[in-house]
Amino acid sequence: MERLQKIISRAGAASRREAERMILAGRVQLNGQVVTELGVQAEAGQDEIAIDGQVLQLAVPRLYFLLNKPQGYISAVKDDRGRKTVVELLPEVKEYIYPVGRLDYDTEGLLILTNDGEMMNGLLHPSYEIDKTYIAQAQGVVKQGQLQKLAEGILLEDGMTAPAQVKLLKQAKDNSSCLVQLTIHEGRNRQVRRMLQAVGHKVLKLRRVGFAGLDLQGVAPGSYRQLKPEEVAALKKFAGVQK
Ligand code: URA
Repeated sequence: MERLQKIISRAGAASRREAERMILAGRVQLNGQVVTELGVQAEAGQDEIAIDGQVLQLAVPRLYFLLNKPQGYISAVKDDRGRKTVVELLPEVKEYIYPVGRLDYDTEGLLILTNDGEMMNGLLHPSYEIDKTYIAQAQGVVKQGQLQKLAEGILLEDGMTAPAQVKLLKQAKDNSSCLVQLTIHEGRNRQVRRMLQAVGHKVLKLRRVGFAGLDLQGVAPGSYRQLKPEEVAALKKFAGVQK
Protein backbone atom coordinates (compact mmCIF):
# COMPACT_ATOMS: atom_id res chain seq x y z
CA MET A 1 0.00 0.00 0.00
CA GLU A 2 1.23 3.47 -0.84
CA ARG A 3 -0.05 6.98 -0.49
CA LEU A 4 -2.15 8.09 -3.42
CA GLN A 5 0.04 11.08 -4.24
CA LYS A 6 3.05 8.79 -4.51
CA ILE A 7 1.31 6.41 -6.92
CA ILE A 8 0.08 9.34 -9.03
CA SER A 9 3.54 10.85 -9.31
CA ARG A 10 5.14 7.49 -10.09
CA ALA A 11 2.64 7.06 -12.92
CA GLY A 12 3.94 10.33 -14.35
CA ALA A 13 0.58 12.10 -14.10
CA ALA A 14 1.82 14.90 -11.82
CA SER A 15 4.52 15.73 -9.31
CA ARG A 16 3.86 14.60 -5.75
CA ARG A 17 3.04 18.19 -4.71
CA GLU A 18 0.67 18.66 -7.62
CA ALA A 19 -0.95 15.34 -6.81
CA GLU A 20 -1.50 16.53 -3.23
CA ARG A 21 -3.16 19.68 -4.53
CA MET A 22 -5.36 17.62 -6.86
CA ILE A 23 -6.45 15.44 -3.94
CA LEU A 24 -7.26 18.46 -1.79
CA ALA A 25 -9.22 19.97 -4.69
CA GLY A 26 -11.37 16.82 -4.91
CA ARG A 27 -10.13 15.88 -8.38
CA VAL A 28 -8.92 12.38 -7.45
CA GLN A 29 -11.09 9.27 -7.15
CA LEU A 30 -10.14 5.97 -5.59
CA ASN A 31 -12.32 3.10 -6.81
CA GLY A 32 -14.98 5.59 -7.84
CA GLN A 33 -15.01 7.55 -4.55
CA VAL A 34 -13.66 11.08 -4.37
CA VAL A 35 -10.73 11.39 -1.96
CA THR A 36 -9.95 14.72 -0.32
CA GLU A 37 -7.48 13.65 2.41
CA LEU A 38 -3.77 13.27 1.93
CA GLY A 39 -3.19 10.17 4.06
CA VAL A 40 -5.26 7.74 1.96
CA GLN A 41 -3.39 4.68 0.72
CA ALA A 42 -3.99 2.41 -2.24
CA GLU A 43 -2.51 -0.63 -3.96
CA ALA A 44 -1.01 0.29 -7.31
CA GLY A 45 -2.13 -2.12 -9.98
CA GLN A 46 -5.20 -3.26 -8.02
CA ASP A 47 -7.10 -0.16 -7.02
CA GLU A 48 -8.54 2.09 -9.69
CA ILE A 49 -7.25 5.63 -9.37
CA ALA A 50 -8.69 8.39 -11.53
CA ILE A 51 -7.96 12.10 -11.98
CA ASP A 52 -10.86 14.20 -13.21
CA GLY A 53 -12.56 10.93 -14.10
CA GLN A 54 -9.65 9.69 -16.22
CA VAL A 55 -8.37 6.32 -15.00
CA LEU A 56 -4.64 6.33 -14.39
CA GLN A 57 -2.62 3.87 -16.44
CA LEU A 58 0.01 2.53 -14.09
CA ALA A 59 3.16 1.54 -15.85
CA VAL A 60 3.86 -2.14 -15.35
CA PRO A 61 7.62 -2.75 -15.21
CA ARG A 62 8.85 -4.48 -18.33
CA LEU A 63 10.88 -7.61 -17.68
CA TYR A 64 13.23 -9.45 -20.03
CA PHE A 65 14.89 -12.80 -19.38
CA LEU A 66 17.13 -15.16 -21.30
CA LEU A 67 16.55 -18.80 -20.43
CA ASN A 68 18.58 -21.84 -21.38
CA LYS A 69 15.70 -24.24 -21.84
CA PRO A 70 16.39 -27.91 -21.15
CA GLN A 71 14.60 -30.74 -22.95
CA GLY A 72 11.26 -31.79 -21.52
CA TYR A 73 9.63 -28.39 -21.09
CA ILE A 74 6.85 -26.91 -23.17
CA SER A 75 7.24 -23.31 -24.40
CA ALA A 76 4.00 -22.06 -22.90
CA VAL A 77 2.69 -20.51 -19.70
CA LYS A 78 0.23 -23.35 -19.02
CA ASP A 79 -0.24 -26.82 -20.39
CA ASP A 80 -3.55 -28.65 -20.29
CA ARG A 81 -1.71 -31.98 -20.52
CA GLY A 82 0.17 -31.26 -17.32
CA ARG A 83 3.64 -31.06 -18.86
CA LYS A 84 6.25 -28.82 -17.27
CA THR A 85 6.35 -25.33 -18.76
CA VAL A 86 9.29 -22.99 -19.32
CA VAL A 87 7.90 -20.40 -16.88
CA GLU A 88 8.34 -22.96 -14.09
CA LEU A 89 12.07 -22.54 -14.64
CA LEU A 90 11.81 -18.93 -13.38
CA PRO A 91 10.08 -19.49 -10.02
CA GLU A 92 11.40 -16.25 -8.53
CA VAL A 93 9.61 -14.17 -11.18
CA LYS A 94 6.13 -13.41 -9.85
CA GLU A 95 4.98 -11.27 -12.77
CA TYR A 96 3.13 -12.78 -15.71
CA ILE A 97 5.75 -13.43 -18.40
CA TYR A 98 5.58 -15.49 -21.55
CA PRO A 99 8.04 -17.01 -24.03
CA VAL A 100 8.91 -15.20 -27.26
CA GLY A 101 8.10 -17.91 -29.76
CA ARG A 102 8.55 -21.59 -29.21
CA LEU A 103 11.16 -24.24 -28.90
CA ASP A 104 9.88 -27.81 -29.21
CA TYR A 105 9.43 -29.88 -26.07
CA ASP A 106 12.66 -31.75 -26.92
CA THR A 107 14.65 -28.74 -28.14
CA GLU A 108 17.08 -27.07 -25.78
CA GLY A 109 18.57 -23.63 -25.73
CA LEU A 110 18.01 -19.94 -25.91
CA LEU A 111 14.53 -18.64 -25.21
CA ILE A 112 13.54 -15.07 -24.33
CA LEU A 113 10.72 -14.50 -21.84
CA THR A 114 9.11 -11.13 -21.29
CA ASN A 115 5.89 -9.28 -20.47
CA ASP A 116 6.54 -6.81 -23.30
CA GLY A 117 3.95 -7.80 -25.87
CA GLU A 118 4.95 -5.16 -28.37
CA MET A 119 8.54 -6.36 -28.46
CA MET A 120 7.44 -9.98 -28.65
CA ASN A 121 5.20 -9.30 -31.65
CA GLY A 122 8.03 -7.48 -33.43
CA LEU A 123 10.53 -10.26 -32.78
CA LEU A 124 8.13 -12.88 -34.09
CA HIS A 125 7.03 -10.93 -37.15
CA PRO A 126 8.52 -12.53 -40.28
CA SER A 127 9.29 -9.16 -41.88
CA TYR A 128 12.00 -8.41 -39.31
CA GLU A 129 13.93 -11.57 -40.26
CA ILE A 130 15.50 -12.18 -36.86
CA ASP A 131 18.45 -14.60 -37.04
CA LYS A 132 18.19 -17.77 -34.98
CA THR A 133 21.12 -20.16 -34.81
CA TYR A 134 20.74 -23.86 -34.04
CA ILE A 135 23.14 -26.72 -33.59
CA ALA A 136 21.61 -30.00 -34.66
CA GLN A 137 23.02 -33.42 -34.02
CA ALA A 138 21.94 -35.21 -37.17
CA GLN A 139 22.05 -38.92 -37.83
CA GLY A 140 24.72 -40.18 -40.24
CA VAL A 141 26.91 -38.13 -42.55
CA VAL A 142 25.43 -34.93 -43.99
CA LYS A 143 27.25 -34.45 -47.28
CA GLN A 144 28.40 -31.20 -48.84
CA GLY A 145 25.64 -31.29 -51.47
CA GLN A 146 23.00 -31.62 -48.78
CA LEU A 147 24.47 -28.74 -46.81
CA GLN A 148 24.29 -26.68 -49.98
CA LYS A 149 20.63 -27.56 -50.53
CA LEU A 150 19.83 -26.57 -46.96
CA ALA A 151 21.67 -23.28 -47.48
CA GLU A 152 19.97 -22.44 -50.75
CA GLY A 153 16.44 -23.34 -49.66
CA ILE A 154 14.62 -26.60 -49.60
CA LEU A 155 11.04 -27.59 -50.34
CA LEU A 156 9.01 -28.47 -47.26
CA GLU A 157 5.30 -29.23 -47.25
CA ASP A 158 4.61 -25.56 -46.41
CA GLY A 159 6.83 -24.21 -49.19
CA MET A 160 10.47 -23.38 -49.89
CA THR A 161 12.67 -22.33 -46.99
CA ALA A 162 14.55 -19.05 -47.26
CA PRO A 163 18.33 -19.17 -47.79
CA ALA A 164 20.15 -20.14 -44.59
CA GLN A 165 23.71 -20.20 -43.31
CA VAL A 166 24.78 -23.80 -42.87
CA LYS A 167 28.02 -25.25 -41.57
CA LEU A 168 29.22 -28.74 -40.69
CA LEU A 169 30.83 -28.41 -37.25
CA LYS A 170 31.85 -31.98 -36.50
CA GLN A 171 31.58 -35.50 -37.83
CA ALA A 172 31.56 -38.42 -35.39
CA LYS A 173 34.51 -40.74 -35.99
CA ASP A 174 32.22 -43.71 -36.54
CA ASN A 175 30.03 -41.62 -38.91
CA SER A 176 26.97 -42.36 -36.78
CA SER A 177 26.13 -38.65 -36.45
CA CYS A 178 27.36 -35.11 -37.06
CA LEU A 179 26.85 -31.60 -35.76
CA VAL A 180 25.38 -29.09 -38.19
CA GLN A 181 24.98 -25.39 -37.42
CA LEU A 182 22.11 -23.61 -39.15
CA THR A 183 21.16 -19.96 -38.99
CA ILE A 184 17.65 -19.25 -40.23
CA HIS A 185 15.37 -16.26 -39.92
CA GLU A 186 12.07 -18.00 -40.43
CA GLY A 187 10.23 -19.58 -37.56
CA ARG A 188 8.08 -22.33 -39.00
CA ASN A 189 6.94 -25.16 -36.84
CA ARG A 190 9.73 -27.75 -36.31
CA GLN A 191 11.60 -26.11 -39.17
CA VAL A 192 15.14 -27.28 -38.48
CA ARG A 193 14.05 -30.86 -37.84
CA ARG A 194 12.01 -30.84 -41.04
CA MET A 195 14.83 -29.28 -43.10
CA LEU A 196 17.27 -31.98 -42.09
CA GLN A 197 14.66 -34.68 -42.50
CA ALA A 198 14.05 -33.38 -46.04
CA VAL A 199 17.66 -34.22 -46.95
CA GLY A 200 17.32 -37.61 -45.27
CA HIS A 201 18.73 -37.01 -41.78
CA LYS A 202 16.91 -37.46 -38.53
CA VAL A 203 17.70 -34.87 -35.86
CA LEU A 204 18.81 -36.62 -32.68
CA LYS A 205 19.28 -33.48 -30.63
CA LEU A 206 18.60 -29.80 -31.24
CA ARG A 207 19.82 -26.74 -29.40
CA ARG A 208 19.27 -23.04 -30.15
CA VAL A 209 22.51 -21.20 -29.47
CA GLY A 210 21.74 -17.77 -30.89
CA PHE A 211 18.80 -15.41 -31.15
CA ALA A 212 18.97 -11.84 -32.48
CA GLY A 213 22.65 -11.49 -31.57
CA LEU A 214 22.28 -13.03 -28.09
CA ASP A 215 23.99 -16.26 -27.07
CA LEU A 216 23.99 -18.69 -24.15
CA GLN A 217 27.33 -17.73 -22.67
CA GLY A 218 27.34 -18.10 -18.89
CA VAL A 219 23.81 -19.52 -18.71
CA ALA A 220 23.75 -23.22 -17.83
CA PRO A 221 20.89 -25.46 -19.00
CA GLY A 222 17.85 -24.86 -16.80
CA SER A 223 19.05 -21.46 -15.61
CA TYR A 224 18.33 -17.93 -16.73
CA ARG A 225 19.49 -14.33 -16.44
CA GLN A 226 17.93 -10.93 -16.81
CA LEU A 227 18.84 -9.12 -20.04
CA LYS A 228 21.03 -6.04 -19.69
CA PRO A 229 19.51 -2.67 -20.69
CA GLU A 230 21.72 -2.49 -23.79
CA GLU A 231 20.59 -5.99 -24.82
CA VAL A 232 16.95 -4.96 -24.38
CA ALA A 233 17.58 -1.84 -26.47
CA ALA A 234 19.16 -3.94 -29.23
CA LEU A 235 16.24 -6.39 -29.20
CA LYS A 236 13.75 -3.53 -29.43
CA LYS A 237 15.62 -2.19 -32.40
CA PHE A 238 15.49 -5.60 -34.08
CA ALA A 239 11.77 -5.70 -33.33
CA GLY A 240 11.10 -2.24 -34.76
CA VAL A 241 9.96 -0.91 -31.36
CA GLN A 242 10.58 2.83 -31.02
CA LYS A 243 10.99 3.34 -27.25
N1 URA B 1 13.28 -25.88 -35.34
C1 URA B 1 12.86 -27.05 -34.83
O1 URA B 1 12.77 -28.04 -35.52
N2 URA B 1 12.55 -27.07 -33.53
C2 URA B 1 12.65 -26.02 -32.71
O2 URA B 1 12.36 -26.12 -31.52
C3 URA B 1 13.08 -24.81 -33.26
C4 URA B 1 13.38 -24.77 -34.58
